[in-house]
Amino acid sequence: MMTAACTRLGIELPIIQAPMGGAVGPALAAAVSNAGGLGTLALWGADIQTLRRQIRETQALTSKPFAVNLNLEFAQEERLDACLQERVPIISFFWREPSALVARAKAGGAVVLHTVGTAEDARRAVECGVDIVVAQGWEAGGHVRGKVATMALVPAVVDAVGRVPVIAAGGIADGRGLAAALALGASGVWIGTRFLASTEVEIHPHYRERIFRATEDDTVYLEELFDIGWPKAPHRVLRNSTVAAWEAAGRPVSGKRPGEGEVVATSKSRGPIVRYRSYTPAADAEGDIDALSLWAGQSVALVHKTQPAAEIVQEIFDEAQAVLGRLATPVKPQ
Ligand SMILES: Cc1cc2nc3c(=O)[nH]c(=O)nc-3n(C[C@H](O)[C@H](O)[C@H](O)COP(=O)(O)O)c2cc1C
Repeated sequence: MMTAACTRLGIELPIIQAPMGGAVGPALAAAVSNAGGLGTLALWGADIQTLRRQIRETQALTSKPFAVNLNLEFAQEERLDACLQERVPIISFFWREPSALVARAKAGGAVVLHTVGTAEDARRAVECGVDIVVAQGWEAGGHVRGKVATMALVPAVVDAVGRVPVIAAGGIADGRGLAAALALGASGVWIGTRFLASTEVEIHPHYRERIFRATEDDTVYLEELFDIGWPKAPHRVLRNSTVAAWEAAGRPVSGKRPGEGEVVATSKSRGPIVRYRSYTPAADAEGDIDALSLWAGQSVALVHKTQPAAEIVQEIFDEAQAVLGRLATPVKPQ
């Protein structure tokens, strides 16, 4: 199952652990890379000292390639330069058009990925020099770039970018999803929600429990709700008391929402967390965890138990192999 993306990234399996701000640390990224996939740190909000420390910790845990994700909604020049100084081999950009930083990342020796939500954005990313395009469908958990579902987006992006490898993101959590993505022309998969159930992930136990209990119909796409810290950025979360109260109040705009400014939880490392803050519930938070931004994709229905990340990677790969094998078997006429 070596694909063009595997060759470009220097990995063995076409399975990428998606960056997840506030949830991924060196242990998870390194475990995925050691298992033959690609681990990704999300360090776009970190101070430079923390960024360097997390990169070095990851390097101490794996000799395999891993990536660092930088969100272009915020200034990333300094973080990018630090990543390149630390010899991070792969940089993933998200959100805004990446033209300003792609050349800099490539001049520093990195392979560059960029996440898009439309074929037009994919074309522009390739014109900027991006090596691999991540096509993120609307089903995805966390911040969602576009409004097109993965099934329609991936082949449209594949057709738009020619020989540039495309990675499918959103709604993929098992080997059936990997096989389907490959059938659509993708060169690999980018999986977030499933890895929230890994042993190595750093989220609050209540958030994890909610993920295990959720069905595919329990998430909601919001243009703007958990927007403090990152405004005007659509996202997908599990429906919770904050969403329900806002809907019951008639979906008022920011500034007029129920419980605005109220502290709903406190994190030992991050201090008070007010309602509507864009915050991934961490293990060190206390309070009304259920009222926080419980990022999750529609694939949440396929996530049932905690497993080591390496086991998740292997299980997805084995299942995809079995599915592809079954599909290759000719159907006997009746
Ligand atoms: C908890 C969480 C945090 C996320 N944080 C980021 C992030 O920091 N940067 C980013 O590019 N994408 C982020 N995403 C989006 C993922 O990278 C990915 O596109 C998405 O999880 C794929 O869909 P899936 O959840 O169905 O696997 C996040 C997703 C989740 C669930």
